[in-house]
Amino acid sequence: MNPQEKIKELVELLNKYSQEYYNNDVSLVSDYEYDSLLRELETLENQYPEYILPNSPTRRVGDFQETELEKIYYQTPMLSLADVFNCNELRDFDMRIRKEGFNPHYVCELKIDGIASNASYENGKFVLGSTRGNGLVGENITANMNTINSLPKKLANNMSIELRGEVYMKKSVLNYLNNIREKNGETLFKNPRNAAGGSLRQLNPEITRKRNLDIFNYTIVNPKQYGLQGQYEALKFLEKVGFSVNPNYEYCENIDDVINYIEKWKDTRKDLDYETDGVVIKVDNFDMQEAIGYTIKTPKWAVAYKFPALEVETKMLNIIFTVGRTGNITPNAVLEPVMIAGSLVQRATLNNEDFIIDRDIRIGDYVLVRKAGEIIPEVVRVNFDRRGSDVKPFYMIDKCPECGSELVRAKDEAVHYCLNEECPGRIRAGLVYFASRGCMDIDGLGEKLVEDLFRRGYLKKITDIYRLKNYQSELEMIEGLGEKSVQSLLDAIENSKNNSLDKVITSLGIRFVGGKISKILAKQYGSLDNLLKASYNDLLNIKDIGEAIANSLVNYMAKNSDLVRELQSLGINPIEEVNENEQIFKGMTIVLTGKLESLTREEATKIIEDMGGNAASSVSKKTSFVVAGSDAGSKKTKAEELNIKIISEQEFLEMIKR
Ligand code: IVH
Repeated sequence: MNPQEKIKELVELLNKYSQEYYNNDVSLVSDYEYDSLLRELETLENQYPEYILPNSPTRRVGDFQETELEKIYYQTPMLSLADVFNCNELRDFDMRIRKEGFNPHYVCELKIDGIASNASYENGKFVLGSTRGNGLVGENITANMNTINSLPKKLANNMSIELRGEVYMKKSVLNYLNNIREKNGETLFKNPRNAAGGSLRQLNPEITRKRNLDIFNYTIVNPKQYGLQGQYEALKFLEKVGFSVNPNYEYCENIDDVINYIEKWKDTRKDLDYETDGVVIKVDNFDMQEAIGYTIKTPKWAVAYKFPALEVETKMLNIIFTVGRTGNITPNAVLEPVMIAGSLVQRATLNNEDFIIDRDIRIGDYVLVRKAGEIIPEVVRVNFDRRGSDVKPFYMIDKCPECGSELVRAKDEAVHYCLNEECPGRIRAGLVYFASRGCMDIDGLGEKLVEDLFRRGYLKKITDIYRLKNYQSELEMIEGLGEKSVQSLLDAIENSKNNSLDKVITSLGIRFVGGKISKILAKQYGSLDNLLKASYNDLLNIKDIGEAIANSLVNYMAKNSDLVRELQSLGINPIEEVNENEQIFKGMTIVLTGKLESLTREEATKIIEDMGGNAASSVSKKTSFVVAGSDAGSKKTKAEELNIKIISEQEFLEMIKR
């Protein structure tokens, strides 16, 4: 290929990648690969400036920066819902409400799997559309919502109204678009939700229009203004005014009726032309809703019942094995690609040897694969009716696929382990884990680069990551890495030194010690120094820490104290105030009013501040919520006027877990 053609090819490829990334939330390549290609393009453009193309990514200042959409601040926050997963939890929800003296009737609605949005109408005209964002601040997407045919732009009567709903993509539309994308060699949308989200955030509404989105509305922001008493009436009202409302809602006298509704939709939902992942159950009466109240994030008068995962059949082409950071060997099914619950699935876990043998799963079988939400897809069972004569029986490997050492299976465990602590597979998995999101979060240090730097000898253990800066110029010479990407990698590494103690503990990859346990340990011990000294018995005294965790920790610290000290000497040594309160009020402004029974004003203020909040003396639009004790006066009235949430002392105590 001549340089001119090569430049053209690279420009097209890179533009496609960034387009997908910025507009459709799809990462086609790792940051590292993207950077390598960009660097290759830069080099060629320097050599052959006459071939530089006007749409070259090197000519743009910052990619698609215009995606910064205008921020919209919500007076009434867009809350989310607490989930329940079975009927017992649903009955508990009902009981909690009953115990407070209410006798609720419910409205059941299908939970549409799309993107929550807010729409405002003034004098019958659609004036503002916005995303949920973090619930308090969303993004202005009016132009894109204007392209949604099922959202009326002009109402028959000239009312002003603010309402909420779910923007979604029909399954049939997703299939249609994916067919075209496949023919054009473009990446497929993984599921209708992603497709809807990416489409809504397009800068060019004409692209959004082509995505053919739809909307179902379900909430009126101030329903009582329209004389409505409950959710059922509100939905009927929305339909009458001309809004698109999902027709499958039902009024339920009691929780048994709710359970019947769920039963009815559990299976039939797959015949609908839109994804639904559950049922939303709402107390019907608005006055009752208000009286039942809210937590910071969710109403206490509603829950989402999540449907169990869906299963789909496909052919299993092969079984491959991966080595985890603790040496755990996982068999994985390589599948004929299939859509499940709206996502494209090509790999699924087979967990371990017993799992495969118990279910007699063989290569070449048609298998049922289950996927739920973000959970890793899993092979569930074989469809024996379709078993061919050419299926191959499964044999567990006995040697590590990475280092060849003998695998062992621990007593009472189904998992095989590679015990070789020097196993390159284990070390690499440990390094990738250390740098991953949720751990030290070192952007750019993904699987590919770890593999490369490991092979070249720069990374042998986690502490080497912090020594990469000593090899800056050598790294810049590596093909695919350049000055800029090395600099941003080193910056990300430096930045990671500021991670909190619990993140650092999680990143060590100690068996049984994930995010939750690390948080507990960080609060209890406050520093790596103290954790190094923790004894087995000390650990056992901590709630939620049992023998397995205590053992694993003590063993790790005994073997790896040098490594931990090395980390400290390299500047990774976070100190946390022991037993510090959770920052649940971070960024919030809270006003106290009236007389509190169980706390003095000073105590309550200190608690708010300790938990990251700001205790203010007067109510304004900026107030997040008001805590009203007895005899609350003008502040409470002001909050009511401004539609700011008011909670009781009891609710406040619940929030702070007193
Ligand atoms: S009501 C306070 N109704 O589910 C009420 N939400 O987990 C909150 N959703 O963010 C929303 N269908 O995006 C409600 N019929 C429905 C819904 C629904 C889908 C989504 C919505 C919300 C999320 C809550």
